[in-house]
Amino acid sequence: MPSPIYVLNGPSLNLLGTREPEVYGRATLADIERLTADHAKTYGLEIVFRQTNHEGVMVDWIQEGREKASGLILNAAAFTHTSIAVYDALRAFDKPIIEVHLSNPQKREQFRRHSYVSLAATGVILGFKEQGYVMAIDAMAKLIGSGANERRRSN
Ligand code: DQA
Repeated sequence: MPSPIYVLNGPSLNLLGTREPEVYGRATLADIERLTADHAKTYGLEIVFRQTNHEGVMVDWIQEGREKASGLILNAAAFTHTSIAVYDALRAFDKPIIEVHLSNPQKREQFRRHSYVSLAATGVILGFKEQGYVMAIDAMAKLIGSGANERRRSN
Protein backbone atom coordinates (compact mmCIF):
# COMPACT_ATOMS: atom_id res chain seq x y z
CA MET A 1 0.00 0.00 0.00
CA PRO A 2 1.38 3.48 -0.86
CA SER A 3 1.90 6.15 1.81
CA PRO A 4 -1.35 7.82 2.89
CA ILE A 5 -2.86 10.81 1.16
CA TYR A 6 -2.88 13.79 3.46
CA VAL A 7 -6.22 15.64 3.47
CA LEU A 8 -5.68 18.93 5.29
CA ASN A 9 -8.34 21.47 6.20
CA GLY A 10 -7.89 25.07 7.29
CA PRO A 11 -9.63 27.55 9.59
CA SER A 12 -13.29 27.32 10.54
CA LEU A 13 -13.85 24.12 8.58
CA ASN A 14 -14.37 22.53 12.02
CA LEU A 15 -17.69 24.42 12.01
CA LEU A 16 -19.06 22.80 8.87
CA GLY A 17 -22.66 21.70 9.19
CA THR A 18 -23.67 24.87 11.00
CA ARG A 19 -21.39 27.43 9.28
CA GLU A 20 -23.21 29.16 6.39
CA PRO A 21 -24.83 25.91 5.18
CA GLU A 22 -26.25 27.70 2.13
CA VAL A 23 -22.63 28.30 1.01
CA TYR A 24 -20.80 25.22 2.32
CA GLY A 25 -23.53 22.57 2.56
CA ARG A 26 -24.83 20.62 5.55
CA ALA A 27 -22.16 17.93 5.82
CA THR A 28 -20.01 18.15 8.95
CA LEU A 29 -16.25 17.75 8.77
CA ALA A 30 -16.68 14.29 10.35
CA ASP A 31 -19.12 13.40 7.53
CA ILE A 32 -16.56 14.57 4.96
CA GLU A 33 -13.80 12.56 6.63
CA ARG A 34 -15.93 9.40 6.47
CA LEU A 35 -16.93 10.01 2.85
CA THR A 36 -13.32 10.66 1.82
CA ALA A 37 -11.84 7.71 3.74
CA ASP A 38 -14.48 5.31 2.39
CA HIS A 39 -13.88 6.43 -1.18
CA ALA A 40 -10.10 6.20 -0.79
CA LYS A 41 -10.54 2.62 0.41
CA THR A 42 -12.13 1.65 -2.92
CA TYR A 43 -8.71 2.40 -4.44
CA GLY A 44 -6.85 0.63 -1.65
CA LEU A 45 -5.67 4.03 -0.39
CA GLU A 46 -5.47 5.41 3.13
CA ILE A 47 -5.93 9.00 4.18
CA VAL A 48 -4.71 11.14 7.05
CA PHE A 49 -7.49 13.70 7.61
CA ARG A 50 -6.88 16.79 9.78
CA GLN A 51 -8.15 20.32 10.44
CA THR A 52 -6.45 23.31 12.04
CA ASN A 53 -7.25 26.95 12.71
CA HIS A 54 -3.53 27.77 12.96
CA GLU A 55 -1.33 28.73 10.03
CA GLY A 56 1.92 27.42 11.56
CA VAL A 57 0.32 24.06 12.28
CA MET A 58 -0.78 23.84 8.65
CA VAL A 59 2.80 24.58 7.53
CA ASP A 60 4.11 21.88 9.91
CA TRP A 61 1.67 19.30 8.51
CA ILE A 62 2.55 20.12 4.89
CA GLN A 63 6.23 19.71 5.79
CA GLU A 64 5.47 16.42 7.55
CA GLY A 65 3.77 15.26 4.36
CA ARG A 66 7.01 15.65 2.38
CA GLU A 67 8.22 12.49 4.11
CA LYS A 68 4.99 10.71 4.99
CA ALA A 69 2.37 11.41 2.29
CA SER A 70 2.01 10.23 -1.30
CA GLY A 71 -0.02 13.33 -2.16
CA LEU A 72 -1.93 16.22 -0.63
CA ILE A 73 -5.59 17.24 -0.87
CA LEU A 74 -5.83 20.71 0.61
CA ASN A 75 -8.74 22.93 1.55
CA ALA A 76 -6.73 25.74 3.10
CA ALA A 77 -9.93 27.79 3.66
CA ALA A 78 -9.05 31.46 4.29
CA PHE A 79 -5.29 30.70 4.23
CA THR A 80 -5.83 30.08 0.51
CA HIS A 81 -6.17 33.80 -0.06
CA THR A 82 -3.63 35.11 2.45
CA SER A 83 -0.81 32.73 3.24
CA ILE A 84 2.59 33.00 1.60
CA ALA A 85 3.78 30.67 4.39
CA VAL A 86 1.43 27.94 3.17
CA TYR A 87 2.44 28.66 -0.44
CA ASP A 88 6.15 28.30 0.37
CA ALA A 89 5.51 25.01 2.19
CA LEU A 90 3.58 23.74 -0.84
CA ARG A 91 6.42 24.70 -3.18
CA ALA A 92 8.67 22.41 -1.15
CA PHE A 93 6.18 19.52 -1.41
CA ASP A 94 7.17 17.68 -4.56
CA LYS A 95 4.22 15.30 -4.87
CA PRO A 96 0.71 15.91 -6.31
CA ILE A 97 -1.35 18.65 -4.65
CA ILE A 98 -5.09 18.97 -5.25
CA GLU A 99 -6.77 22.17 -4.06
CA VAL A 100 -10.39 21.70 -3.01
CA HIS A 101 -13.05 24.22 -2.01
CA LEU A 102 -16.62 23.39 -1.03
CA SER A 103 -17.91 26.64 -2.50
CA ASN A 104 -16.76 28.23 -5.75
CA PRO A 105 -14.63 31.15 -4.56
CA GLN A 106 -14.46 32.51 -8.13
CA LYS A 107 -18.08 33.60 -7.97
CA ARG A 108 -17.88 35.11 -4.49
CA GLU A 109 -16.15 38.21 -3.13
CA GLN A 110 -13.23 39.66 -5.10
CA PHE A 111 -10.74 38.83 -2.32
CA ARG A 112 -11.47 35.10 -2.74
CA ARG A 113 -10.53 35.11 -6.41
CA HIS A 114 -6.81 34.98 -5.72
CA SER A 115 -5.41 31.68 -4.43
CA TYR A 116 -1.82 31.19 -3.32
CA VAL A 117 -2.58 27.48 -3.20
CA SER A 118 -3.47 27.41 -6.92
CA LEU A 119 0.02 28.69 -7.74
CA ALA A 120 1.43 25.43 -6.35
CA ALA A 121 -1.43 22.98 -7.01
CA THR A 122 -1.46 20.21 -9.60
CA GLY A 123 -5.20 20.82 -10.05
CA VAL A 124 -8.18 22.52 -8.48
CA ILE A 125 -11.76 21.40 -7.64
CA LEU A 126 -14.23 24.16 -6.82
CA GLY A 127 -17.88 24.38 -5.87
CA PHE A 128 -19.04 20.77 -5.52
CA LYS A 129 -19.49 20.90 -1.73
CA GLU A 130 -18.41 17.67 -0.01
CA GLN A 131 -18.40 15.76 -3.33
CA GLY A 132 -15.28 17.76 -4.21
CA TYR A 133 -13.30 15.62 -1.75
CA VAL A 134 -14.53 12.45 -3.48
CA MET A 135 -13.55 13.90 -6.86
CA ALA A 136 -10.15 14.79 -5.44
CA ILE A 137 -9.60 11.16 -4.39
CA ASP A 138 -10.45 10.02 -7.95
CA ALA A 139 -7.96 12.54 -9.36
CA MET A 140 -5.29 11.66 -6.79
CA ALA A 141 -5.63 7.92 -7.44
CA LYS A 142 -4.91 8.62 -11.12
CA LEU A 143 -2.02 10.95 -10.33
CA ILE A 144 -0.27 8.51 -8.04
CA GLY A 145 -1.09 5.59 -10.32
CA SER A 146 -2.98 3.66 -7.70
CA GLY A 147 -6.26 1.90 -7.58
CA ALA A 148 -7.22 0.83 -11.07
CA ASN A 149 -6.38 -2.75 -10.14
CA GLU A 150 -7.99 -2.63 -6.71
CA ARG A 151 -11.11 -1.17 -8.23
CA ARG A 152 -11.34 -3.86 -10.89
CA ARG A 153 -10.85 -6.53 -8.25
CA SER A 154 -13.57 -5.15 -5.95
CA ASN A 155 -16.17 -4.70 -8.73
C1 DQA B 1 -13.49 27.63 1.36
C2 DQA B 1 -13.53 28.94 0.58
C3 DQA B 1 -12.70 30.01 1.25
O1 DQA B 1 -12.79 31.23 0.54
C4 DQA B 1 -13.21 30.26 2.68
O2 DQA B 1 -12.35 31.17 3.34
C5 DQA B 1 -13.41 29.02 3.45
C6 DQA B 1 -13.93 27.83 2.81
C7 DQA B 1 -14.42 26.56 0.74
O3 DQA B 1 -14.21 25.39 1.00
O4 DQA B 1 -15.34 26.90 -0.01
O5 DQA B 1 -13.21 29.01 4.67
O6 DQA B 1 -12.16 27.13 1.34
